[in-house]
Amino acid sequence: MRSLSLASLFTGLGLVLGACGGDDGGDGGTTEVTYYQDIKPLVDAKCVACHSSDGIAPFALTTFEELEPMAGVSLINVENKTMPPWPANPDCNEYFGDRSLSDDQIELFKAWVEGGRVMGDPNAPAPPLVTEQQRLTRVDKTLSMPVAYTPATTADYPDDYRCFVVPWTESTTKYVTGFRAVPGNPKVVHHVIAFYAAPDQVAAYQQLDDATAGPGYTCFGGTNGPSRTWIGAWAPGSLGSDMPPGTGLRVEPGSAVILQVHYNVLEAGPEPDLTEVEMKLDDTVGKAAIIQPWANPNWIDSLDMRIPAGDADVMHAFEFDASFPVGGDFTLHSAALHMHTLGTHTTASIVRADGSTECLLQIDDWNFHWQGSYGLRQPPTFHRGDKLRVECHWDNSPSNQPMIGGQVRVPADVYWGESTTDEMCLGAFYVTRL
Ligand code: HEC
Repeated sequence: MRSLSLASLFTGLGLVLGACGGDDGGDGGTTEVTYYQDIKPLVDAKCVACHSSDGIAPFALTTFEELEPMAGVSLINVENKTMPPWPANPDCNEYFGDRSLSDDQIELFKAWVEGGRVMGDPNAPAPPLVTEQQRLTRVDKTLSMPVAYTPATTADYPDDYRCFVVPWTESTTKYVTGFRAVPGNPKVVHHVIAFYAAPDQVAAYQQLDDATAGPGYTCFGGTNGPSRTWIGAWAPGSLGSDMPPGTGLRVEPGSAVILQVHYNVLEAGPEPDLTEVEMKLDDTVGKAAIIQPWANPNWIDSLDMRIPAGDADVMHAFEFDASFPVGGDFTLHSAALHMHTLGTHTTASIVRADGSTECLLQIDDWNFHWQGSYGLRQPPTFHRGDKLRVECHWDNSPSNQPMIGGQVRVPADVYWGESTTDEMCLGAFYVTRL
């Protein structure tokens, strides 16, 4: 399994638009749009989670001096909606922590940029917008790879999957109520999954680790050991967050966390990495949760998911009653979808027993660099007899090929696989049993 990211995003909502000029009339109809009175609250609420010195974006937008020189290129990105990144189609469902800007907010930003990027009065700044929490609210535990690791790859196979066994040192039962992975070297880390090794599974993992030279061991596909349970995941674009209120993933004393890190060196070469995961922990929760990965087993075990060379729209879909693997009816709190670089659009939905369909997540313009998990504002209930459906589309035509070793790849048949140049169609759902 590769990528994924889970989690969801919380707290009170509501966006209050900054004072937008025009109505107080009298002098030709416009009030000047300024940084301190209009734009700072917007940028603080919608950009700074990533565009700050410790954020994932390459530059900060926390002050007038930082934003002003970037205003022109920011306007282009804001107008074409590449910034803030939020690929979910709003007609499909409603999510916590929606990062997108309203049309009015886009207009306000445009008016400021085109109106001369006026600073305004720093002594009378507008109050901050109320926004939803987009980050982990508390870090109670940080788990790190034991030492830095440099991916072992070849020119033909630029991917390395490495698992690191990290002992769990808490002495009482805990619930993971928030999760964030911090890739040590984002240029080579393509995903991180934290697997849970129950106390009676730890010895098997220790053996795998001991049998391999260097830190960790090689682990394509999963952990190579008995665990199928995830307690967190990260893929490019996911920022980490709290789990839905009152829910968490149970972790017992004496267990271990197996950090599976997918390295891909196509961009940067084999540079060292030291990845960490941060967790919020609680002693009790209202409901224990599980993360249910979702894909057609035949895609993974046989060559059913064929994406023929040259074909510009290939579709594969899978639907099945999810109450079997989950072990009964459940509430579905968040959804994530995962493909690799040939993906174009993808959907997750519930097909009800009566044949009707409920959209959970729809990504119309797939971007490998902006994956994430979407917390549903109104978590639906899944009943036995319903089906959980994932549908993926790919473009394997000559015009949509990745660069490999500086050259555009010649289209070839592509199947499910672990390499970034293979493909996947994988859902991951954060659920609690009813
Ligand atoms: C979820 C994180 C995130 C948020 C929120 C976000 N950005 Fe970005 N931004 C990035 C990252 C990462 C990059 C660099 C990679 C890329 O371009 O995708 C970037 C790149 C940019 C660029 C450079 C694009 C280019 O053409 O080179 C601009 C300008 C920008 N952001 C403006 C904004 C503005 C303005 C906002 C808020 C209205 C915003 N961003 C919100 C993460 C974010």
